[in-house]
Amino acid sequence: MIGPLNHIGIAVPSIKDAVKPYREILGITGITKTKTLPAQGVRFCFVNLPSGQLEFIEPYGDNSPILKFLAKNPKGAQHHICFEVQDIHAAKRHMEEQGATVLSEPRIGAHGTLVIFIHPKDFTGVLIELMESPK
Ligand code: CO
Repeated sequence: MIGPLNHIGIAVPSIKDAVKPYREILGITGITKTKTLPAQGVRFCFVNLPSGQLEFIEPYGDNSPILKFLAKNPKGAQHHICFEVQDIHAAKRHMEEQGATVLSEPRIGAHGTLVIFIHPKDFTGVLIELMESPK
């Protein structure tokens, strides 16, 4: 049911500051423009690696869901990992049948496909994002 690891999500107070060492120290040039996802209360960009992506997210708006996380991790920290699935609705059903806590209805994520998040308590403290593979 689970497809490739798509990205590792890192929540930061400032994307601009956070990508700097990836560009300057690691020499990574494949860094996407920062975009806003108002419905999810975040701004994001992707750092492209041969093996996948890092997703940097910073808060957008007063009700951003990552504000609480950043209060606990003021400098930023690894926030979630994201796996691809073929069918997000089937994945949500499967997760619920297995007793996992799905945190929201499927909604459009940073790659423009539907995503859900699974509570970290079900995966030893790691927040899991599932995203439908881009068609
Ligand atoms: Co993500």
